[in-house]
Formats: sequence, structure tokens, C-alpha cells
Amino acid sequence: MKNKITIVGAGMVGATVAHSVVMKNIAEEVALIDINEKLATAQAMDLQHAVPFAGQIEVKVGSYEDCRDSAVAVITCGVAQKPGETRLELLNKNAKIVSGVAEEIFANNPDIVLVVVTNPVDVLTRILLEKYPEKKQQIFGTGTLLDSARFRHLLGKKLDINPKSIHAYILGEHGDSEFPLWSNASVGNMKLGVCQEISDQEKTEIFEQVKNAAYKIIAGKKSTYYAIGAGTAYLLEVILRNKKTVLPVSYLVDEKYGLPAVSLSMPAIIGRRGILGKICLDLSEEEKLNLQHSAEVLEEAYQGLSII
Ligand code: NAI
Repeated sequence: MKNKITIVGAGMVGATVAHSVVMKNIAEEVALIDINEKLATAQAMDLQHAVPFAGQIEVKVGSYEDCRDSAVAVITCGVAQKPGETRLELLNKNAKIVSGVAEEIFANNPDIVLVVVTNPVDVLTRILLEKYPEKKQQIFGTGTLLDSARFRHLLGKKLDINPKSIHAYILGEHGDSEFPLWSNASVGNMKLGVCQEISDQEKTEIFEQVKNAAYKIIAGKKSTYYAIGAGTAYLLEVILRNKKTVLPVSYLVDEKYGLPAVSLSMPAIIGRRGILGKICLDLSEEEKLNLQHSAEVLEEAYQGLSII
């Protein structure tokens, strides 16, 4: 198997993931697939011209056959919400697209690791996990990887500390019911409350900013792509180099939390085969309730689907 990535969806997110992969020089080859071939061709050309400033990497327009020697595939394709269309109608459309795309991917490589980025990422990930129960290790969604980066960025600014030294997660749904894991947030290896105090008011403000970030960015420039591009490329590096790194991603939660069988974000150990292990968290009572709420929201969305 090559250190090769196939990205399905060459829109803003797919192309930005590819761009981050090129600039980080973490793969031998990137294949871009899109139903809009003209777009995929243009994106591949533009990216190829970045390669002389980056590393040794082949970028090309691909087909599903590229999955055969790819270690990982990323799904970023989908349709945007049309005026008058409900979220559920959009969900049904994207569920159909992502389900069909996954079939093509696995038909060419049943062992490939599959990362879902398309929204609503948790519900779409669950659909694939229900469809391929034997691939629980291979399939997961980016979940709150992006939200957790936003959280660490804001905490870093507040504390004037490099966000890389801040370990803090947003968990649950990648969406409105997500929640901050304050009980585990740490700077270096010290609990946040021990070395640095943040008032309840400041905590609320920081979390509100995290939750509203996507709305604010979309209002200004229609979509978000740089941070998810960088985050997904980081995740791909962790997979390709078998880094066994703990990251918050969307996967089927353990029964021991007493939740419905939803896919939502909890920390997991990620490596070359996908999810290598799940991290069991000691949640506060409030966090348990938040997790429960997120699971209920996601269960309701899943049960509302017409394709299940
Ligand atoms: P976009 O509209 O720019 O790109 C989507 C691409 O999918 C289009 O080029 C379209 O031609 C292609 N496509 C549609 N159906 C296809 C099919 N059956 N096969 C192959 N290609 C197909 O959208 P953008 O901005 O790139 O966003 C993509 C997705 O990523 C959206 O669902 C968005 O909500 C999601 N997203 C997820 C984030 C996360 O944290 N999980 C963060 C930001 C965006």
C-alpha cells in the first residue's frame, strides 16, 4: 500500500485538505475525485503548481480505482442547502451521496481507512458504520477535531500560551449540542484550574465563541475550509505515519456510557489502521448530561432519515 490519499469532493474543503497535504508533504500521491470533473481538473492543476514550493508529491484527478493502492480515503463531497430546503432534506440528500461514494471506495479497497468530513458528519458517519459493521475501526468522522482546535486557540489567546501546550476537547456532536470538557482541560500536564484560573463567565464566553465560529465565518465568506483542511491533513499524517495520537473524532460510542448507538466525538487513539483504541473519560455530572443530550439530538436526526 502506498502512502496515498484519495479525496472525494474537490470543492473548497477537499481542495484545502489536498493543499495542506501538499504543503506538509505527508503523502506520495493525492487523487482528487469530483462529479464536476472540470473542477477536479482545475484544482489538481493548481495544486500541482504548488508542489515545486513544497515537497515530492503527485497530485492528480482520480477515479475510484485510485482507492486500490490508497491507505486512506476522505469524503468531503456533498450538496449545499438550497433556499427553502430543510436540514433533514439536505441530510437525506447527503446521506445518499456519501453512502454511494463509500460503496465505490470499499468496492475497490475493502481495507482502506475512511475519514468522513461531509456534514452532518456524525450522522453520516453512523450511516456508514451501520452499513459496514465490520469496519468499525476503519470508518470515523472528523467530528469535533475542528471545534477542539478553535477551543485551544481561544484558550491559548486568553492564557497567552501556545495552543499546542493546551490539551482541551470539545466533545459530542459536531454542531449545536457539542460541549466543552472543562474537567479535563490542561496546560502542560497541569489541570487548568490548578495553574491558571478562568472564571465561569470567561468559560461561557469562550465556549460561545467556539460554538458560533462556523456561523460567523460562513456569514463572512460562505464556507469554512482552512482550519478543517489543516486539521484533516494533520489527521491524515497521524494515520499514514501510524502516530498513535489521541484525537477527538466521531465514532460509535461505547455502551457503558448508557447512550443510544450514535456516532459522536470522544477521544480515540488514531493510527495506520484507523481507530486503535477508545479513551474512556471520567466525566463530571454536567458533562454526562451534556453527552446524553448530544446523543439524543443525533439519535433524533438519524431516526428522521428516510433512507434507513
Ligand atoms: P463544496 O460545495 O465546495 O464542495 C462539495 C463538492 O462535492 C462539489 O465540488 C461537488 O461537485 C462534489 N460532489 C457532490 N456530489 C458528489 C458525488 N456524488 N461524487 C463526487 N463529488 C460530489 O463544499 P465544501 O465547502 O467543500 O464543503 C464540503 C462538505 O464539508 C460540506 O458538507 C460541509 O458542510 C463540510 N464541512 C465539514 C466540516 C467539519 O468540521 N466536518 C468543516 C467544514 C465543512
